Amino acid sequence: MVSVDALDILDDACFTKLISLIHALTGITIAKNRKSMVQGRLRKRVLALSLKSYEEYFEFVQIHDEERKPFIDLVTTNETYFFRTPRIWSHIESQTLPAWYQRNPGKVFSAWSAAASTGEEAHSLGILCQQFKDKNVSFNYEISASDISQRVVKVCREGVYQGRSIESFRNSMPETFSKYMLQNSDETFSVHPDVKRKMNFFEHNLFTSLKDKKTYDLILIRNVFIYFTSADQRKVLDLILPKLAADGILIIGESESLTGISSGLAKVENLIYRKDSR
Ligand SMILES: C[S@@+](CC[C@H](N)C(=O)[O-])C[C@H]1O[C@@H](n2cnc3c(N)ncnc32)[C@H](O)[C@@H]1O
Repeated sequence: MVSVDALDILDDACFTKLISLIHALTGITIAKNRKSMVQGRLRKRVLALSLKSYEEYFEFVQIHDEERKPFIDLVTTNETYFFRTPRIWSHIESQTLPAWYQRNPGKVFSAWSAAASTGEEAHSLGILCQQFKDKNVSFNYEISASDISQRVVKVCREGVYQGRSIESFRNSMPETFSKYMLQNSDETFSVHPDVKRKMNFFEHNLFTSLKDKKTYDLILIRNVFIYFTSADQRKVLDLILPKLAADGILIIGESESLTGISSGLAKVENLIYRKDSR
């Protein structure tokens, strides 16, 4: 029987090892003052595995490759909701999609939600694209969405949402909500199949390069740079920029900035950049 009290202690040496492992696996930099957060997130898992201490768990993750995914699931922060930061969605709806459509007759608009969490961002974009398609029948689109956490990618694939994740969408855009979110027999809502069939979800670490040669007309990489140092942000940007099509748009999160690392991008407005093809 594991003593629960033993798990009240995460000593500094073990914490330091855990945060360097988190950095090595995900690029996430965890501050020294976040020990209780890390401890709180790992505690249940250590107990479930009947290990006696965080030190034992650290060794377990090192030895057992298959424990890396559950570990990553626990240490990532996956907060998200539909139409987060309304300003950027207005920009996509009123500027990005119409301008792209006019310049690219007959082509397929392609977008990537690059740290998608549970998929609310990718599905918000899908809903705007489908709405645009409903008005412009020859418009076509496809959306890729990825995350490092296997747990959230599974949720993306299901496309079923409830509670806080849909609350502001439901209140602020009731007509769009009732058209594209279909109520199930309980309090949950499924994304409309017309939108779902345009989605492709996969696991991907932003510190590795996407294998295919495809480029994207729009890349959303929002509320993930905050977890990286500026040197690591630069590494990620260097891997992402080749995936952005000429004149493609890249959008970051509300509390993020590319100041000092934005070479190759021209600022369109706050949070919104265009690939600088000159
Ligand atoms: C706070 S959520 C952001 C979700 C969404 N983009 C939004 O803005 O609402 C951050 C996501 O980044 C993912 N993440 C963290 N490090 C990553 C990495 N190295 N590669 C891919 N995804 C990562 C986490 O798993 C988490 O789901």
